[in-house]
Amino acid sequence: MRKPVVLITGAGGEIGHGLIDRLAGRGDRAIVTIDISRLDETIAKKVDREVTGSILDRALLERLMAEYEIDLIFHLAALLSTRSEFTPMAAHQVNVEGTMSLLEFAQHEAESHGRPVVFIYPSSIAAYGLPDLETKQRAGRVSEDQYLHPTTMYGCNKLYCELLGTYYARHYKQLAAEAHSGRVDFRAVRFPGLISALTLPAGGTSDYAPEMIHAAARGERYGCFVRPDTQIPFMAMTDGVDALLTLAAAPRERLQRTAYNVGAFNPTAQEIRDVVVEAFPGAEIAWAVDRKRQGIVDSWPADVDDSAARRDWGFAPRYDWQRAFSEYLIPTIRQRYA
Ligand code: SER
Repeated sequence: MRKPVVLITGAGGEIGHGLIDRLAGRGDRAIVTIDISRLDETIAKKVDREVTGSILDRALLERLMAEYEIDLIFHLAALLSTRSEFTPMAAHQVNVEGTMSLLEFAQHEAESHGRPVVFIYPSSIAAYGLPDLETKQRAGRVSEDQYLHPTTMYGCNKLYCELLGTYYARHYKQLAAEAHSGRVDFRAVRFPGLISALTLPAGGTSDYAPEMIHAAARGERYGCFVRPDTQIPFMAMTDGVDALLTLAAAPRERLQRTAYNVGAFNPTAQEIRDVVVEAFPGAEIAWAVDRKRQGIVDSWPADVDDSAARRDWGFAPRYDWQRAFSEYLIPTIRQRYA
């Protein structure tokens, strides 16, 4: 008997942890996950089926298709921006070919069970590329259609996959006699840097914020790899997960775009350091600027205009800069390392 399920790829990553927790709490769908590594115990016990394998493995996806009626996909699997610069071919394989194979999977699923498949895709501020700091300062809150000239492999991958998703949603096989598009209901958010109290990122370039906080909580020294004046948008992980769930539940006719900016606060690295030192007196945080990683962060916007997300699907982060630290990050992280 085939039953409706949500499929989560890259489920063992940071977003997956928060998402599985929330979905399992609601209990209204069976949860199937794919990740190349085993899920850790805290989340493994909350899913109905854990598949350990690659999203590039066609046979594996076909087996899943035969077994389940999937009508919601959170495609989280990706190599982040710093990591992708060291292995661009692997990044392209996972980030682009992996996404393409999931989109094709979603199309076939929808054709087989006759309902659209909602495909939720976390894109990124890395999709933007501002040419220099002066432009970045002048640009302020960047809206979705500006400055789309990413300088990183990851950013190129994310931007292209937004276009691929839009293609499946609106123009797929547009010359065929019968209409094929619209079966994949593709919806993307361009996330800012995400900061989780429970997990640490691996291989990103916005990692200085979460690394600084977690290092201080563990009583470890930290060398921040960007300048004190560095500014990009961030968001508490819980709001990030909320955004994915809210977008997934939004009525389709309300959505005027396929990719939406979302943001919550945009402190400078100095402001993050100040708050961390106040919360963890004695924290040793130095500036150890990595010129090349700095260059990547400098090409990302200082802030994003997320008014389209607020208007179309009611995006409203609960945590501003003050609350994110005082009510979510600091207490949860303290407890975690206690
Ligand atoms: N956090 C990501 C990274 O730094 C950006 O989406 O790669």
